[in-house]
Amino acid sequence: MTFVITAACVDVKDKTCIDECPVDCIYEGPRKLYIQPEECIDCGACETVCPVQAILFEDDLDPGERPALVWAQELFATVGSPGGSRRHGPLATDHPEVAALPTAS
Ligand code: F3S
Ligand code: F3S
Repeated sequence: MTFVITAACVDVKDKTCIDECPVDCIYEGPRKLYIQPEECIDCGACETVCPVQAILFEDDLDPGERPALVWAQELFATVGSPGGSRRHGPLATDHPEVAALPTAS
């Protein structure tokens, strides 16, 4: 089980969540941020600070939000467990499905 950042973060990227995470496991992609599911300790500190309520516990995801869990799983299957977003720096790419989402006009 883990916390998940949904599509509500796309092109918003408030980033308040980053400062709340005690284990620095929230990684920045070009269009949204992603929680590394193996590094997250499920403290929930990030959930309450997001101004657009983009962060949810896995069990609380609506069916339409479930893809966000897969985005993180598939992205970090490639990236691995870097052990800290500040040290790692921004991710070079988003999950392909996120990159393909329409932009707000
Ligand atoms: Fe995104 Fe909310 Fe964090 S908009 S960057 S999940 S504070
Ligand atoms: Fe960090 Fe949020 Fe997990 S603050 S430890 S990503 S629940």
